[in-house]
Amino acid sequence: HNYVAIMAGGIGSRFWPMSRTNYPKQFLDILNTGKTLIQWTYDRFADFIPAENIFVVTSDEYSDIVAEQLPNLPKENILGEPSRKNTAPCIAYISFKLMQKDPQASLIVAPSDHLILDTMAFRKVCLEALSFVGKHNAFITLGIQPTHPNTGYGYIQFEQHSITDNVYKVKTFTEKPSLEIAKTFLSSGEFLWNAGIFVWQVKNILTAFEHYLPEMYEVFVAEKDKFNTEEEKEALEAIYPQCTNISIDFGIMEKANNVYVIPSSFGWSDLGTWNSAYDNFSKDYFDNAVAGNNVVVIDSKKCMVHVPDEKLVLLQGLDDFIIVDTPDVLLVCQKTKEQEIKEYVAEVKRKK
Ligand code: GDD
Ligand code: MG
Repeated sequence: HNYVAIMAGGIGSRFWPMSRTNYPKQFLDILNTGKTLIQWTYDRFADFIPAENIFVVTSDEYSDIVAEQLPNLPKENILGEPSRKNTAPCIAYISFKLMQKDPQASLIVAPSDHLILDTMAFRKVCLEALSFVGKHNAFITLGIQPTHPNTGYGYIQFEQHSITDNVYKVKTFTEKPSLEIAKTFLSSGEFLWNAGIFVWQVKNILTAFEHYLPEMYEVFVAEKDKFNTEEEKEALEAIYPQCTNISIDFGIMEKANNVYVIPSSFGWSDLGTWNSAYDNFSKDYFDNAVAGNNVVVIDSKKCMVHVPDEKLVLLQGLDDFIIVDTPDVLLVCQKTKEQEIKEYVAEVKRKK
């Protein structure tokens, strides 16, 4: 009864211009490791969940990329969405679909674009979580010790006493707080980052949809009998335009009162921004991270440089900059503005 849903429909806009709408970062090998992020994610789960129970939910336009990059994943387990509505509709879709097949299903929901170094520790935490949700009506989150007041994450405050060995009841879940609040959370020492990986029984998350996102729930209910039939695509085309664009974090996790956390350390890093890539690259003497074989760096420090090998790049006098070159776009941006890249890109697109 154990299933995995890998969410791979995001556009990774903070990783622009390497990550593009037509080929986003989950399909790239950003750290030059030999495998793309979604390949690492799939392999991590395929170690302990059979391939037929692993699903990838993505945008229709990426289905072919998924099929190409994950040849061992059954084709029918690639679920294409007709439009991008963030993670709540994506999770509703896989949940309604699984509910029909297996009402006892337990589900691990995971992003497709993270770095996890300790696969064994990761598997152990997942199995613990699956065992817990098998017995309790619980939504398990995996919590990571925070290192800085990142405003791109969810923050989890939990009760002191564990329910079982590693599972703690969550007091508050705050998605993407302001910098000020993130700083307060960090200094209190009571908060963990939400790793963005969730474990629950499908029937329980569907009840939460009914409760916290009732309109979305009803839209799915109206069409759900077409799931797992020839009419599934048609059903989705009716459903998606009616769904609000909302993440599971804002839509359900902030509100539900049966959220739990397993504090985890498996070498997690969200490759969400250029700074997180920077953290994972080896640095030169002046703390520059340089990907590209022909880069000359003079009087510069703490830069994140990602340029094609065949290009000669000369850099002088830049501190704390992101410099990313691709065949058609060059980005030069202060490293502290990494969260804003999303908005800059939207602005560029509006103007073009
Ligand atoms: N199928 C599908 N459809 N997938 C999507 C969609 C969509 O519309 N939107 C996003 N995704 C995928 C992304 O590709 C990614 O793998 C995952 O869902 C999470 O989406 P993000 O957009 O990357 O979320 P986030 O990073 O802003 O925030 C989440 O992750 C953080 C940790 O990395 C939240 O869960 C935070 O609370 C958490 O701290
Ligand atoms: Mg993310």
